[in-house]
Amino acid sequence: MTTSEWASLDNLFTSVLHSEDDVLRAARESADAAGMPPIEVSAQHAKLLSLLVRMSRARRVLEIGTLAGYSTIALARAVGEGGTVVTLEFEQRHAEVAGQNLERAGVADKVEIIVGAALDSLPTLQQRGESFDLVFIDADKENNVSYVEWAITLGHPGTVIVVDNIARSGRVLDPAPDDAQATAIRAMFDMMGADPRLDTAAIQTVGTKGWDGFAVALVR
Ligand code: SAH
Ligand code: DHB
Ligand code: MG
Repeated sequence: MTTSEWASLDNLFTSVLHSEDDVLRAARESADAAGMPPIEVSAQHAKLLSLLVRMSRARRVLEIGTLAGYSTIALARAVGEGGTVVTLEFEQRHAEVAGQNLERAGVADKVEIIVGAALDSLPTLQQRGESFDLVFIDADKENNVSYVEWAITLGHPGTVIVVDNIARSGRVLDPAPDDAQATAIRAMFDMMGADPRLDTAAIQTVGTKGWDGFAVALVR
């Protein structure tokens, strides 16, 4: 099969399963209109994030990497009455577009967007005494080892950690010396495999995002 066939089948799933409503579609299109990169999760991945939140009964969700808030909407819709999402975003402009999308989705009251480098914001969350039931890591891959460590620190036994973009068209297999992202993802797997506090699965995917994947871990 070719990448266009992967995308076509993904689009069929999204169509017949009604996975992307007008609000999510508008969020995806708003990123494009604002000149932001088209790197939000696929409709199917967003739905899976929603299901993971609901299956784990997560009420407090942390996201690292907001972009236009596509995945944030999926997470916020799933946390239920009284649930909340904190999402960390480096770019002020991305946070503004996300804020508009969260308003349109009717979930702005459940979501706190914190603008700044995630590694600066995460200690603030610790100082606040925050604890999260599910953490979605989807920002600068170079810091993934630190982000997983923070997810454990800010989590508890039973916290679910999801990490996006773990295959990068296979570049993670044997990262080129100048490929800092793939190198960091590889280091993250070494760390996750060695850390007795984590139980982890790594799932490769094909679809509208080409060949990539995500990891799901449970904090023991
Ligand atoms: N989760 C989003 C996509 C996120 S794309 C979705 O699926 O809809 C990655 C985002 O991480 C970008 O918006 C980028 O600006 C942000 N980012 C990059 N480096 C960051 C950092 N150090 N701290 C916080 N956010 C960062
Ligand atoms: C990139 C980042 C992402 O989070 C993603 O889902 C796809 C691509 C990137 O930086 O290229
Ligand atoms: Mg991603």
